[in-house]
Amino acid sequence: MKCRRCKKPAVIKLPRHNTAYCGFCFQFYVYEQVRRALSEHKMLQKKEPVLVAVSGGKDSLALWDILTKLGYHAVGLHLNLGIGSYSETSQSKVEAFARTRNLELITHAYQEAYGLGIVEIARETARPACSACGTMKRYHFNRIAREKGFAVVATGHNLDDEASRLLGNVLQWQESYLQKQSPALAAEDGKWARKVRPLYRLTEREIAAYTVISRIDYIIEECPMSKGAKMFLYKEMLNQLEETSPGTKHQFYLGYLQKKEQIFSPQEKDKQCCKVCGQPTRGTICSYCRLMERVAT
Ligand code: AMP
Ligand code: FES
Ligand code: ZN
Repeated sequence: MKCRRCKKPAVIKLPRHNTAYCGFCFQFYVYEQVRRALSEHKMLQKKEPVLVAVSGGKDSLALWDILTKLGYHAVGLHLNLGIGSYSETSQSKVEAFARTRNLELITHAYQEAYGLGIVEIARETARPACSACGTMKRYHFNRIAREKGFAVVATGHNLDDEASRLLGNVLQWQESYLQKQSPALAAEDGKWARKVRPLYRLTEREIAAYTVISRIDYIIEECPMSKGAKMFLYKEMLNQLEETSPGTKHQFYLGYLQKKEQIFSPQEKDKQCCKVCGQPTRGTICSYCRLMERVAT
């Protein structure tokens, strides 16, 4: 098969677009998809610095690489979750990436801040690890963005992440989550950082191919606490559907984004500020501060 753009031999097939690319033109395709995501959802202004949350996995490192190549001032933020060798390897991949490309990186380690890693924090608060982890990440992304003066935080969620999350939300009819699910979330109260997901048009497989072509070294291992998570099952099912009907994930998620405005009335924002830390919340005390109360007791 030949590359659609330059007619040289293709190295990757994209059945969902009924096409194929050589390595060079595939990179061009990836940049186009990200450019489109950025402009359709008005995610970033060109001069605006962006804080990129980097886990050490393929998606977030690819995102940092792409935003830098597209000319954005992208600073990395890595949270060391304190999960033994998994966290050590994750941080070393992020640091090596930043060092070799001369990029600015901010790190924050739970072990140093709390004397505990996420597994111990979850255990002490009797919360599932991934749920405590999500609460902690949201809090620190917001806090660090504010302290360092960033108006926007970008994460590496891809099309597979978004489509599987949508499937989970539909299966459980999680109306408030459905309403909130978006590749670009506005700043709550105008004070906190906007949240953007510029990779939402690209599949996991496409990002994996991009990291190989662009020689990005990342941690392959998944977080040990995520074993057996429902999301993997949803991703697997969507992959099976994609195999027989290429484009399923794209139609499902992008179709939802198009229809969303007609389905839901404009979203109510979290109006209150947490009494303890000031972050936006629906109640009086945010979920992070409630978690911390339980760590302290
Ligand atoms: P996950 O929730 O693990 O699928 O990760 C989704 C996104 O959150 C990643 O693509 C990163 O942008 C960000 N993220 C996850 N873990 C970390 C971490 N330890 N430090 C910084 N960002 C992270
Ligand atoms: Fe948060 Fe695994 S518990 S990434
Ligand atoms: Zn709080």
